[in-house]
Amino acid sequence: MKHPASRSPHARRRFLAGLAGLSALPLLPARGSAQAAPGLVQARLAASARDVQLVPTKYPATSMWAYNGTVPGPVLRARQGDRLRVVVDNALEEATTVHWHGIRLPNAMDGVPFITQRPIEPGASFTYDFPLPDAGTFFYHPHQRSYEQVGRGLAGALIVEERDPPKADRDVLWVLGDFRLNADASISGGFGNFMDLSHAGRIGNTVTLNGGLPETFRVRAGERIRLRLVNAAPARVFALQFRGHRPWIIALDGQPVEPHEPPGGAVVLGPAMRADLILDMTAAPGSRHAVHDGFYRRLAYDLIDLEYGDEPPLRARAGDAPRLPDNPLAEPDLRSAERHEIVFTGGMMGNMRGLSRGAAWAVNGVANGCGDSGLPFEPLLVLRRGRSCILNLVNDTMWHHPIHLHGHAFRVLTRNGRPTRHREWLDTVMLDPRERAEIAFVADNPGDWMFHCHILEHQASGMMSCIRVS
Ligand code: C2O
Ligand code: CU
Repeated sequence: MKHPASRSPHARRRFLAGLAGLSALPLLPARGSAQAAPGLVQARLAASARDVQLVPTKYPATSMWAYNGTVPGPVLRARQGDRLRVVVDNALEEATTVHWHGIRLPNAMDGVPFITQRPIEPGASFTYDFPLPDAGTFFYHPHQRSYEQVGRGLAGALIVEERDPPKADRDVLWVLGDFRLNADASISGGFGNFMDLSHAGRIGNTVTLNGGLPETFRVRAGERIRLRLVNAAPARVFALQFRGHRPWIIALDGQPVEPHEPPGGAVVLGPAMRADLILDMTAAPGSRHAVHDGFYRRLAYDLIDLEYGDEPPLRARAGDAPRLPDNPLAEPDLRSAERHEIVFTGGMMGNMRGLSRGAAWAVNGVANGCGDSGLPFEPLLVLRRGRSCILNLVNDTMWHHPIHLHGHAFRVLTRNGRPTRHREWLDTVMLDPRERAEIAFVADNPGDWMFHCHILEHQASGMMSCIRVS
C-alpha cells in the first residue's frame, strides 16, 4: 500500500477530502442583533479513543483520540462577553485536562495539571466555566502529556465573535493539523523520543486541514472571506503563501492588529499561533491558485487550491480591510515597567551541558518537567499584580521556539533590538534561531501562569516555566 502521505517536493495533494471534521455544537444562544445580552454558552466535550477517517477512504480509518468523536474537536462559538461553560468527560485511559489557549480567564480554569487543577482521571469529569473578555480566534487542547494527546488528535477551535463583526461574505475556519502516520494510516508511535525532543519536535508526514486532506477550496470571484487560521499541530510551523492573492492580516492570536500584508508574503504560524485574514477573491472566474507552504524549504508543498467557480464576480473591486475593535487589554507602562531577561537554551547543536534526566532544553538554566508529573517547580518570576513588565526573551539555540504565556496577552516591542512595525499583541511569540524579542504586558491576572515553548516536545523536555502573579 502506498503511504497515505507520501509526497515529493511541491507535490500536489493526491487525495480527495474525507468529510471535514468540523461540526458546530447546536448549543449557541440565539443570534439576535448586535446588542443581544451576553449569554451563557454551554457545551460538553468527551475525550475518547475513536476511529477517524483522516485520510481518503481508500485507506483505513485512523485510531485517534478525539473530542466528541471528531478531529479536530467541535468548533465552540460564543460572543465576546458571553460565559462559556464546558463539561469535559474523560473517556480516555489516561488523565487529561483542557487548556483554553489565549483566553484570559481565572487561573483555576486554565487547565494545567497539578498547578491549576487535579488532572481529570479516566471516567471523571470537570466543568470549566469562565467569561470571555476578548473576541478572537482561540483554541483548546489538553495540557496533560500534550505532546502525545495533541499528537493523537485532541485539539479544537474556540471562536469568540465580535459583538459587531466586520463585514465579510463568509467566515471560514481552517484548523491546521499535522500527524505522523504509518503506511496503514495508523498513528505512528514513538511519542517523546529523544530525537524529537531535542530537535524540531514531532513533525508529522500528514498535514490536515479541518481534519481531512481537501484538494480544493471553492470560492467565488469578488467575494470577501474572513479566514481564521489555527495551527493546532504539535510542532510544525507553517508559512502560507496565497498565490495570486494579497491577504490582509487583521488579527494575530485573536488580538486585532493594524491590517497589513504578511511580511515577505507568507503568513507564518508556529504551533498554537492563529491569524485572522481578510482574503479578497480578486482573481478571475474559473481560475485556480495554490496556497503554498514553504516553511521547510525541502518539504515545500501545496496545502490546498483556491478554485474559482465560473460565476461572474460578486463585486468589482475589493475595499480596504477593516480594523477590528481592540479587546480590553491593559496598556503596559513602559517607563515604570520592571525588566527581566529570559534565556532559552539547549537542543542539538547547542550547549546541552548541565541538562539531566532526559531534559533537552532549559529556561534561565532550569529544565522543568511539564508539570504533568506533579513534581513542584519554582516560579521563574514573581510579579506583583498590576505591574507592567518587559521581558527580554533570548533564544540562545539553533531552533525555532513559539513561546506562550498563559492568562495574558503581551505586546511585542522589539525583535533583535529593532522596534516591531505593529507592536502586535500576541499570546505566543515565535523566536527564530538566535533571535531576541522584547515583550511587554501588565501582570493583571493573579495566579501561576505557564510560560513555555509550544513545540510540545520542547515543553515536555525542559522548555517550561511558570510566572506567578500575586
Ligand atoms: Cu496552548 Cu500551555 O498551552
Ligand atoms: Cu521550543
